[in-house]
Amino acid sequence: MKVAPFWRKALLTTHIVTAVGWLGADVVLLALGIAGLAGADPGVVYPAAGLIVTALFAPLAVLVWVVGVLDALVSPWRLFRYRWVMVKLIVTTVMLGLVLFLLLPNLRALGELGAATTGRDRLDLVIPPAVSTSLLVAMTVLSTYKPWGRISRPAGNRASRAAGSPTPGARSGPAGTRTETAVRAPTG
Ligand code: HEM
Repeated sequence: MKVAPFWRKALLTTHIVTAVGWLGADVVLLALGIAGLAGADPGVVYPAAGLIVTALFAPLAVLVWVVGVLDALVSPWRLFRYRWVMVKLIVTTVMLGLVLFLLLPNLRALGELGAATTGRDRLDLVIPPAVSTSLLVAMTVLSTYKPWGRISRPAGNRASRAAGSPTPGARSGPAGTRTETAVRAPTG
C-alpha cells in the first residue's frame, strides 16, 4: 500500500498520540486504584475509574489497535515482517480483549458495589492497570529500539529473491523510516 510521506507521518503522529494517551489513561487508573486501596472514598474512586475506562481507556485501546495496524500496513515495516511489530500486535490484541471483556465489566461491578467493596475487590483496580502500564511501557521501548530483526522468509521466497525476482508486493526494508538505522536487518 503506497501512501504519500505526508499522510504516513500524519498516521504515525496519530499512532503515537493515541498510544501515549492510552498509557496516560492507564496511569490515572492505577493512581485511582492505589487511592481506593489506601482508603479513599469508594463512592468517588470507582465511578471516576468507570468514567475513565468507558470514555477514555477502552476507546483509546480500540483506536491504538486500529491505527497501529493501519500504520504498520502503510509503512515499510508491515504487519508480519518484523518481530517487534508482531509482538506489539499480539500484546495489543490480548490487552484489547482483556479491556473490553474483563476490565469494563469488572469496573461496572465495582462502581455498583460502592462502599461495600472489599480489599480483594479493590485490587481489581490495582493489579490490571499495573500490569497494563508495564506492558505499554515495554511496547513503547520496543517501538523505539525495534529489536530482534526481521522474520525470516519462507525458503521459496528466499530462492526467488536470490534469483533476482522479488516477491510480489515485497519492498526493500524500511527505507525512508526515520529510525531505520536502529534496526539490525533493514534490507530486503
Ligand atoms: C496493534 C498494535 C500496534 C502495531 C501493529 C504497531 C505498529 C507500529 C509500527 C509499524 C510503527 C512504525 C511506524 C512508522 O515508522 O511509520 C510503530 C511506531 C510506534 N509505536 Fe506502535 N504499534 C502498535 C501498538 C503500539 C502501542 C500499544 C504502543 C505504546 C503504548 C506503540 C507505540 C509506538 C511508538 C511510540 C512508535 C514510534 C516509534 C518511532 O517512530 O521511533 N505502538 N508502531
